[in-house]
Amino acid sequence: MKKKVSVIGAGNVGASLAQMIVQSAIADVVLFDIADGVPEGKALDLSEACPLWGSSSSIVGTNDYAHTADSDVIVITAGFPRKPGMSRDDLLNANAKVVSEVTEKTAKVSPNAVIIVVTNPMDVMAQVSLKVSGFDPFRVMGMGGILDSARFRTFVAWELNVSPEDVEALVLGGHGDLMVPMPRFTTIKGVSIIELISKERIDALVERTRHGGAEIVALLKTGSAYYAPAAATYQMVKAVLFDEKRMLPCAAYLDGEYGAKGIYTGVPVMLGSGGVEKIVELNLNEQEKADLEKSVAAVKSLVEKLNL
Ligand code: NAI
Ligand code: 2OP
Repeated sequence: MKKKVSVIGAGNVGASLAQMIVQSAIADVVLFDIADGVPEGKALDLSEACPLWGSSSSIVGTNDYAHTADSDVIVITAGFPRKPGMSRDDLLNANAKVVSEVTEKTAKVSPNAVIIVVTNPMDVMAQVSLKVSGFDPFRVMGMGGILDSARFRTFVAWELNVSPEDVEALVLGGHGDLMVPMPRFTTIKGVSIIELISKERIDALVERTRHGGAEIVALLKTGSAYYAPAAATYQMVKAVLFDEKRMLPCAAYLDGEYGAKGIYTGVPVMLGSGGVEKIVELNLNEQEKADLEKSVAAVKSLVEKLNL
């Protein structure tokens, strides 16, 4: 029997992710949304693409949570995206309500699932999902670091005119304007970019990464990025379904690691069928520690606004 992934929110990110899962036939998909007809329409369209992709995955579009029962993975993309001029944090209250509702309904019928939260402000929404689901923290995580690292990889690859595949990058911290791109841990085939790119140019690439989401919002004008976000989430889904033990930067619940307690933030983790199976603690220098602390403090101040 195929594994089952429920994607909650059939908008841009959710539908793109559903396509990636179904096209690669790694699981059956349930696409849930409150919008009338939208999940059903997108699921039917994707089903009709399956013969062309040679995929035997099934996809069901629905407004009924019963269809999500016994999922192996639940991905939460439901909520509101950013519009020009909005920060991810402006979405706080509206999306907390949505994430709370969808977590409650899905966790009840899939008590053994791993939950991956995408909805912004993501680190805070992961905390909402943890609280409402009552799951162990290692089964509730957020997607942000893989996307931010992919953006950094892209900009570094363009700078050096090398394949993005050969660039490894790491971005830590909350998925917000204070995220912490880590040039010291960003390499081309093992060589740190500090040896290859001037400090001035690295600073510019770091700034572009920090504002990578806003750059796309400003261009699209009606919403935010979704192809790279869906691809990043797909990597997490696959790591869980196939117990890949991937080392990836994800928002994880910190319980003392990196000097933070009781809060989600982006750190390198080992991702497998159990969810976050390990949090990897890097040896940070003083500047990196201070930057991460600032980023965690920003997540904390949003969590406090919600009185969780
Ligand atoms: P979208 O507007 O295209 O899709 C959102 C969907 O959620 C809509 O179809 C809407 O009907 C649905 N929805 C709203 N309330 C719902 C509810 N109560 N139950 C079920 N479905 C509900 O937005 P998009 O572009 O797909 O983005 C989704 C979220 O993901 C946004 O909050 C966005 O900011 C966030 N995001 C986070 C990223 C990250 O790196 N963590 C990257 C990209 C987007
Ligand atoms: C992004 O980084 C909006 O969080 C979303 O594109």
